[in-house]
Amino acid sequence: MKMEKFEDKLVTILNYGALNLALGIGYKHRIFDVMEDLNRPMTIPDLAGKSGLDERYLREWLGIVVTGGIIELSADSSGEDHYFLPPSHAGVLTRKAGSNNLGVYTQEIPLLTLSALQGVEQGFITGEGVPFSAYPDFQAFMSELADAKHEQTLIQNFLPSVDGGKLISRLEKGIRVCDLGCGQGVALNLMARAFPRSEFMGMDNHGEAIQRARSSAQDLSNVNYRVLDAARLKEDQEFRHQFEYITAFDAIHDQSHPLQALESIRHMLSPGGLFSMVDIKAGSRHRDNLDHPMGPFLYTVSLMHCMPVGLNDRGRGLGMMWGKEKALALLARAGFDRVEVLDIPNDGFNLHFLCRG
Ligand SMILES: C[S@@+](CC[C@H](N)C(=O)[O-])C[C@H]1O[C@@H](n2cnc3c(N)ncnc32)[C@H](O)[C@@H]1O
Repeated sequence: MKMEKFEDKLVTILNYGALNLALGIGYKHRIFDVMEDLNRPMTIPDLAGKSGLDERYLREWLGIVVTGGIIELSADSSGEDHYFLPPSHAGVLTRKAGSNNLGVYTQEIPLLTLSALQGVEQGFITGEGVPFSAYPDFQAFMSELADAKHEQTLIQNFLPSVDGGKLISRLEKGIRVCDLGCGQGVALNLMARAFPRSEFMGMDNHGEAIQRARSSAQDLSNVNYRVLDAARLKEDQEFRHQFEYITAFDAIHDQSHPLQALESIRHMLSPGGLFSMVDIKAGSRHRDNLDHPMGPFLYTVSLMHCMPVGLNDRGRGLGMMWGKEKALALLARAGFDRVEVLDIPNDGFNLHFLCRG
């Protein structure tokens, strides 16, 4: 981030922090989606009617988003105010924006603040983690994020990029695939639908997420979900060499015992199998991330969730910004000695660590 005159910067921070909160509320209530669908300037009563939301609350909220330059304000010949969401803003803000949807992220800091502010503030004094149970809405949010992230990209862009396209033909013929830390199963279900001859297992230690994943996969006969702790699978004979392909999307850095989780993956991978670890694109040292376009945002998400969750159970607390160098070192310690670090098509924020078993 560039340094401007510091007091101006502070004013910008106060305004943008407030805007993030307002955008998060607007996103949750689908106000932008309604405005995008209607695609015309609207009065406040009109917007209240179409969105089903309270007029007085909308009026106050519109004050934030028009002064913040998100929604445009104009007046008709009678002087009545009209509010318009420009298509170029809608294109990165609404659910229809798919993998371009940045709007979904506006909910993240408000959600994590609501869940964990006290625990994190306390952690500064005690050094302790924050239990996963403090984040009751986290899995639903991750699933929304995964919808936005994976829906358009996983099958069309990511999987074809793995191993020069050879993975796709293996998936088409039929292999066994595991998604570790699968959450509510968005990625696994997409893969299972696309490759009906392959068998898919989703693993996560969060029981409620697995329940959700199971209910969203009722129409799929090639999917199995299990509640399992990744750190405890490395000696489990049931899973030895069971999978030709294993994925972990954004799921290793959150674990209390990431080394054991990676060792479990090695144990579960069949000889010649592939493991795709997809994780945030960053360097391991602060100085490597000074020009990261979302450095403060990502470190904040890490501080408010990934790191304190990873500190539980005497854990490592790697945090989301653990970075490429630490990731490679941990993969090597787990026994992965053939690792390629790859960019992901249409995804500037993650790296693909492709590991061979
Ligand atoms: C940031 S979420 C990512 C979820 C999903 N892969 C996605 O991309 O949306 C991390 C996931 O790792 C899971 N997880 C954390 N520790 C775990 C462990 N020890 N064993 C299995 N899963 C774990 C969490 O429950 C959570 O679902």
